Amino acid sequence: MIAIGSDHAGFYLKEDIKNYLEEHNVKYIDVGCYSPERFDYAVSAQKACDKVVSGECDKAILCCGTGVGISMAANKVKGIRACCCSDYFSAKLTRAHNDANVLCLGGRVIGGGLACELVDVFLNTEFEGGRHSARIDKITAIENGEKLY
Ligand code: RB5
Repeated sequence: MIAIGSDHAGFYLKEDIKNYLEEHNVKYIDVGCYSPERFDYAVSAQKACDKVVSGECDKAILCCGTGVGISMAANKVKGIRACCCSDYFSAKLTRAHNDANVLCLGGRVIGGGLACELVDVFLNTEFEGGRHSARIDKITAIENGEKLY
């Protein structure tokens, strides 16, 4: 199950991605917003990320104007590793190396075609583990208030 959310500036990109998920039989929960009326991205970010942290959803996809604000909000939720991407390589490697659980996209940055390619590679790339696991553990340590130096 995938959580998907946006603010007003990411609303139409979210709708494109929902069509793509439906065509590929990927189940999702749309946490809003539900119209292009002004809506603050932090609300959708927290709603979607809470579903990932609780285990109700495996991953989340979030859209705002740039993908940046909503990724900042998402990364404030404990247990979330969100990446704002607009290129294929980053969307793939953020899964393979960073074990990202949230993909953030900018509705004013990229079009629906590229966004769906990024979603596809993000959802279908496994974390490689190995040497990357220790690095993820250090990110978690920062999250837990530990000093790394
Ligand atoms: C909304 O106007 C816009 O600031 C927001 O969608 C996003 O781009 C913030 O990072």
